[in-house]
Amino acid sequence: MTDFTEANRQYFDKMATTYEEKFAQGVKVVAEQTSQHRLWISDRWTDTITNPDEKVRMLEYACGPGVISMALAPFLSEIIGIDVADKMVEAFNRNAATLELSDKMIGHVADLLGDNVPGEFTKSPYVDMDIVAVSMALHHFEHPDVALQRLGQRVKSGGTLFIIDLVPQPGHAHDHGHGHDHGHGASKHEFGDAAHTISTQGFSEETMRNLFQQAGFDVGFKYEAISEPLVFKMDGKSHSKSIFFARAQRA
Ligand SMILES: C[S@@+](CC[C@H](N)C(=O)[O-])C[C@H]1O[C@@H](n2cnc3c(N)ncnc32)[C@H](O)[C@@H]1O
Repeated sequence: MTDFTEANRQYFDKMATTYEEKFAQGVKVVAEQTSQHRLWISDRWTDTITNPDEKVRMLEYACGPGVISMALAPFLSEIIGIDVADKMVEAFNRNAATLELSDKMIGHVADLLGDNVPGEFTKSPYVDMDIVAVSMALHHFEHPDVALQRLGQRVKSGGTLFIIDLVPQPGHAHDHGHGHDHGHGASKHEFGDAAHTISTQGFSEETMRNLFQQAGFDVGFKYEAISEPLVFKMDGKSHSKSIFFARAQRA
């Protein structure tokens, strides 16, 4: 695990017990918008496939407590959550148990973005996914471009990569089309004690299109800014952040 990923692991491990409460409004917006966008995200769900013997499988990477997984669970056969933070994965599995979803929704601790992915995670059931989803985590990855390429390899042909993240705000550091901003431009101070866990302050439509294309996802690209912002308090200050949904398919 790189130092950057380790910083994220420590930060989110500490935050896991309070995450859903602290970001309750954001969690609610993301969950509701995900449910509303289900057919926008993908046309392959348990209620849309014609062969009932087929499975519809999703990997939620950097899953945290599983907001996306819980919202989409009624329409999936199998959900795997993976996160580097143990306590986030505990929350994911606790939520699955509370909703009586443990038979199809299981979380594991792993780093799938580094150079030494443990062997068990390089094969079934962690590959050939119908959907790979990453919510509010791409800006926490050291190299978002490499991350999408590596995660994209886990999606089967015709499958979907679905990203929720921050819309860049005016006056902030610009990225360079490959998804990170090299630390110049506006500072990351407004992220408070999370600043060292963030590589990028948001992704424009153009950047997302490039990132998807570089990862081999050049079919059906869509990007939509969500009108309701995420509102939360951090380090005693109020924040309001705009998010986007983006998706594309592998040919
Ligand atoms: C802001 S939280 C988002 C959690 C969840 N996806 C959601 O939408 O509520 C970011 C998550 O990314 C995880 N994370 C950060 N870097 C990671 C990496 N390199 N690999 C896997 N998970 C990572 C953190 O542990 C944390 O759970």
